[in-house]
Amino acid sequence: TDRYAVFGNPISHSKSPLIHQAFAKSTQQNMSYEAILAPTAGFEQCLNEFIAEGGKGANVTVPFKEQAFTLCDELSDEAKLAGAVNTLIVDATGRLRGDNTDGLGLVADLERHLGSLNGKSVLLVGAGGAARGSILPLLNSGITQLVVHNRTHDKALKLAKEFASFGPIETRSLNQLDQAFDLIINSTSSSLSGEVPKLPSAIIGRTTVCYDMMYGKESTAFNLWAQQMGAKQVIDGLGMLVGQAAKSFALWRGVEADVEPVLTALRQQLA
Ligand code: ATR
Repeated sequence: TDRYAVFGNPISHSKSPLIHQAFAKSTQQNMSYEAILAPTAGFEQCLNEFIAEGGKGANVTVPFKEQAFTLCDELSDEAKLAGAVNTLIVDATGRLRGDNTDGLGLVADLERHLGSLNGKSVLLVGAGGAARGSILPLLNSGITQLVVHNRTHDKALKLAKEFASFGPIETRSLNQLDQAFDLIINSTSSSLSGEVPKLPSAIIGRTTVCYDMMYGKESTAFNLWAQQMGAKQVIDGLGMLVGQAAKSFALWRGVEADVEPVLTALRQQLA
């Protein structure tokens, strides 16, 4: 049995064990997947023990994604640009490869809901770690415009500059947001505190789809606001969670697991 795990602190509420165990069952993989609580200052030691015991791969979540990035022997382009690693792969020689599947999971979920993103104009709200991790996959998805807006404009400017060579990325401050977008993605942590980023209603038109990376039993504050502003459709981030897991699973096992049954089960659990 190949052993996998997710490392985080806190970790008891992680849905990753449930998701990966379901994937393993549906694709008939002989593997285990557990949650490991690493002490705040003890991630490296915990990870080394896990690898010494034969661990084949791991997911990394808050607050260790940036530290995981520094511990890898090799990094994917996504991980390099995200500056963070959510997926660790231990290869046959014991070398540690780091990848980041968060952004690809987001794009996979968007495409599952909307079909191709080809030609779409996209507003990305926020300029923190979650925004950073999604920019390259979004720019590679066929969209024709990616506007980054952040409460602290300087952070948006810095991010757009870093990714300028990868595609059509630009920034707008609040008073420059005067156009409706095909797709608006909230990557801020505002929904955690029930807040909505300050945004003008002009960004939402009759065909605008809004996506919040957060999710919960109730609609997120951002999605409620978007609905009130007349958005055509609002989507929460549960599918991104399952999507990034499916990408990690494929990196480890070489098989694509079906996300739909797991999503249905998780959605029922939330309710
Ligand atoms: P994460 O890794 O989850 O992205 P982060 O790096 O701390 O977390 O970034 C949080 C993001 O949410 C930032 O873009 C932050 O805006 P600032 O850069 O201006 O701080 C944004 N954010 C958090 N709470 C917000 C709120 N109430 N309104 C608007 N933006 C908010």
